[in-house]
Amino acid sequence: MKSIASAPGKVILFGEHFIVYGGKAILCSINKRITIESQLSNSDKIKITSGLGTISVPKNESIQNIDPVFRPVVYVAQKILQKFKSDSGLAISIKSEIPAGVGLGSSSACCVAAASSVSGLFANYSKEEVLQLALEAEKTIFENASGADSTVCTYGGMLEYHRDGKIKKLDFVPKFQLVVADSKIMHSTSKVVSKVKKFKDDNPQIFSELCDKEGRLIEETLEALKENDLNVIGAKMNQNQTYLGKIGVSNDLLGAMLGAVNGVAYGAKLTGAGDGGCIIALVDDANLERTVGVLRSKNYECFAAQIDTIGVEQKTEYKS
Ligand code: PMV
Repeated sequence: MKSIASAPGKVILFGEHFIVYGGKAILCSINKRITIESQLSNSDKIKITSGLGTISVPKNESIQNIDPVFRPVVYVAQKILQKFKSDSGLAISIKSEIPAGVGLGSSSACCVAAASSVSGLFANYSKEEVLQLALEAEKTIFENASGADSTVCTYGGMLEYHRDGKIKKLDFVPKFQLVVADSKIMHSTSKVVSKVKKFKDDNPQIFSELCDKEGRLIEETLEALKENDLNVIGAKMNQNQTYLGKIGVSNDLLGAMLGAVNGVAYGAKLTGAGDGGCIIALVDDANLERTVGVLRSKNYECFAAQIDTIGVEQKTEYKS
């Protein structure tokens, strides 16, 4: 018997960095997924194979001794084997369509897919139970993880995330797509967050005004999202990008990528921590191909993404 689960990646549409100091961010999941297959084995090992390598560890190995790349998945495996008092080992394989380390939620999607896949060998977990386990797993590598990424990977769609931890699912039916272009520069979220803190400490007045402006921009954007008014949403993305530029998280390469889609897409901004990572451009059928075309003509790697509305999915295969 094999349990196969997949979970989507995500982008931050609005509000990164400013959310660290209050207010809201808007996230959505995208139709690029991580798929995880799990099978019980006759060994006493947890074996994981993925594009990032392979490990095989004793199933009772202390979690702190596990390579951080695989730690959350091993955590999930150990928790489930213990919970269901299983004597078996586990063979887990991970396949990803989500580029790693560029702010597209690959590690959260991996935690969610692992929680769903491994639990699926023993029980029919609800999305709430999957999320709970994924959040615990994520905390083995990011102690201060907000939970927003895992939440959107679990439920799919769009959500509003508040600094105080409140998460509200938005039930808009988006009529847009995104073009995601990858700068290929991996970023460290914690380093960029520290850089923004320094900016805030050095420029308290300017930073506080920008936070207020971002708050208003998000409220106006929520109205525009209800109406699917792409011209307004795109203009708000451009505006949000200028605020991100002011706090120092954009760079020349991201600026050049954004410049390439200027006037072609409805609007564009960096997504996630910045200083590398990805940009997102707002498009629909009318300008999708042209937007991809201008980016590729400048050799920027990009792909079209739709909003995923499914979230995590699991199925069980029985050998005949
Ligand atoms: O690039 P990501 O997905 O790690 O985004 C980080 C978002 C920040 O607002 C910069 C940090 C945070 O904890 O909200």
